Amino acid sequence: MRNFTFYSPTEFVFGRKTEEQVGILLKKYGASKVLIHFGGGSIIKSGLLPRIETLLKAENIKYILFGGAQPNPRSGLVYQGIKLCKRENIDFILAVGGGSAIDSAKAIAAGAKYDGDFWDFFDGTAIIKAAIKIGVILTLPASGSEGSHRSVITKEEGMLKRGAGNEFIRPVFSIINPELTFTLPAYQTAAGIVDMMSHIFERYLTKTPNVDLTDRLCEATLVSIIEAGRKVMDDPYDYEARATLCWSGTIAHNGILGVGRVEDWATHQLEHELSARYDVTHGAGLAVMFPAYMKYALDTDINRFQRLAINVWGVESGSQTPTEIALNGISAMKTFFKKIGMPTSFSEIGALEKDIDFLVSKLFQGKSNNFGAFKSLTPEGARMVYRIACE
Ligand code: NZQ
Ligand code: ZN
Repeated sequence: MRNFTFYSPTEFVFGRKTEEQVGILLKKYGASKVLIHFGGGSIIKSGLLPRIETLLKAENIKYILFGGAQPNPRSGLVYQGIKLCKRENIDFILAVGGGSAIDSAKAIAAGAKYDGDFWDFFDGTAIIKAAIKIGVILTLPASGSEGSHRSVITKEEGMLKRGAGNEFIRPVFSIINPELTFTLPAYQTAAGIVDMMSHIFERYLTKTPNVDLTDRLCEATLVSIIEAGRKVMDDPYDYEARATLCWSGTIAHNGILGVGRVEDWATHQLEHELSARYDVTHGAGLAVMFPAYMKYALDTDINRFQRLAINVWGVESGSQTPTEIALNGISAMKTFFKKIGMPTSFSEIGALEKDIDFLVSKLFQGKSNNFGAFKSLTPEGARMVYRIACE
């Protein structure tokens, strides 16, 4: 196990009706003028937004509504939000929604405290040194952004999807009421399941030795997600299964499952090119890319893939070779993704084999010609993974 610092200071308030505490929490964190940032309107339809407004009014907290964050959130709205925060002297941003609203809020929060172009944080030419405080009411367990220090934004000009972040943009509180996820369309629930599982795979695929405790925590969380995922797809109103997914999504990405090890994250970067090019839902893109990446990386550590197959996917070892066991694990994963309604190949998301060179050139734009910590990814390697994803 490597040395590490684990610092994840978000206050999580979890369970039924917990959104009712929003006014109290905003006061606790010193909010006097709040920007409520949200997506395309699901929180208006569900009645959540009017309830939040009533709660803020009851605490005499001033607020401005700022909606419109779209899936794969765009830079244009971030620029508008930054202007609004500066003009209105906003001192707290409350993101209500899924990863897109939260990530957009994070980019606005950092940009509003910066004199230059907020995109500098995303193309790596500047680091975030201050941000407006952020709180979250989560409506979609997937991205883990409610507990993470990252934000992922797509720049319209050139359609570049990039991530940035540090501790300044980690939410100070996150309210997670699983009941708020009952209204999710099945596709979004399933994409969320794949995304949170992928956050664990990115950490599980490591070359760091002697990380058995976190390996086991990763495996246990994956098994819990698979079990709860099956239940929720059958009954969207199963509170306990929704609760398991909500908390799994948070711990999958708040850092606890990655301590003491080198994480990978190559597959997320491969997927971000699909989101940017085809505007595909992030989790759906990952359902296509992870089986392909795992096949590509199989020879890096066959024992690790064998262990994943047995401990998570319940593959019987019998008289099979380690490679057969590992491949059966990947097949079981694909079957699960299909069962919950996710795509598992390029054609199902409208991606085209002839675009692979374009995707690879975008992927390596502004990066060195070699990344990925588990199996290093060169342009030729990336081409190979995309080609496997076409099968
Ligand atoms: O926009 P509204 O109308 O709210 O509808 C949303 C949206 O259409 C809808 N939705 C959300 N909660 C709902 C609901 N519909 C009904 N009932 C509810 N309770 O779901 C759709 C998708 O929402 P979105 O926020 O885009 O989904 P998700 O949470 O999966 O976030 C995806 C974004 O997060 C980024 C992804 O790249 C993608 O841009 N990620 C952020 C990370 C981070 N900050 O740490 C890490 C992740 O790996 C990921 O990259
Ligand atoms: Zn993700």
